[in-house]
Amino acid sequence: MKKIRKVVIPVAGLGTRFLPATKAQPKEMLPLVDKPIIQYIVEEAVAAGIEEIIFVTSSNKRAIEDHFDRNFELEYRLRQKNKQANLKEILRISDMANFVYVRQKTPRGLGHAIFSARSLIENEPFAVMLGDDIIDSRVPAIKQLIKVYEKYQDVVVGVTKVAKKETDKYGIVDPIFIDQKTSQIKKLVEKPAPAKAPSNLAITGRYILTPEIFDFLSEQKTGAGGEIQLTDAIARYIKKRAGYACTYDGDYYDCGNKLEFIKAIVNFGLKRKEFSSQLKKYLKGL
Ligand code: G1P
Repeated sequence: MKKIRKVVIPVAGLGTRFLPATKAQPKEMLPLVDKPIIQYIVEEAVAAGIEEIIFVTSSNKRAIEDHFDRNFELEYRLRQKNKQANLKEILRISDMANFVYVRQKTPRGLGHAIFSARSLIENEPFAVMLGDDIIDSRVPAIKQLIKVYEKYQDVVVGVTKVAKKETDKYGIVDPIFIDQKTSQIKKLVEKPAPAKAPSNLAITGRYILTPEIFDFLSEQKTGAGGEIQLTDAIARYIKKRAGYACTYDGDYYDCGNKLEFIKAIVNFGLKRKEFSSQLKKYLKGL
């Protein structure tokens, strides 16, 4: 069985929901406390043993490349000022993995973004992680999916329960449960209206895919929102092969949504020893 060594992280979106904050910087660089959102995603992948990070980018995303690269001037100045802790952290970021970039030439949806990475994947299974979706968990969520992949050796998506009225924001699975946390997927629907949703188990930005998915993506027609949807390609794939859903342990934050992003900042802030009690006191006083 081939090991999951690579992850594709699509970061080509315009981030219009966060304008004007995203006018001149990628939304993926917005900080959760003091770390850009995208760094949490990369750290989750690295903690799961992934060695190569493939970013699917567009124009205006250079800050992401710079963030994961060396910055000699900054290193020099931190050394001069003897800021050893900062220096160590800065060096650690660029050493975490092998970073590779490919452009999505036209914004045609998530399925199209993943297809843009085809030539970099070759013939091996790989992970996909979405830049908006933060999962706070003891065992990295993507590692929990890899475990399911190792057992069934086919496509796996990470799911969590969402409110029934919110099914139209997500890819929703129709599950046949194998055990409490794992199910085989009978059907997948992208952003169904609540009345049409087969369940309230939503895909939240974590996938293990096999290279055969590219054959399905290459001929995928446009779906919801007039875009080439990854969900639709997986839905066709599982009719020929099989797909599994992993209800991971962890707290999910949709950082593409302003309110959820603020909740994530508060929750991650409350975990910081250096000011958690002060923050708690402040929140109680509001
Ligand atoms: C994408 C996927 C959807 C998934 C969601 C998770 O939608 O198409 O299936 O549930 O991410 O965040 P988007 O949020 O890009 O519209």
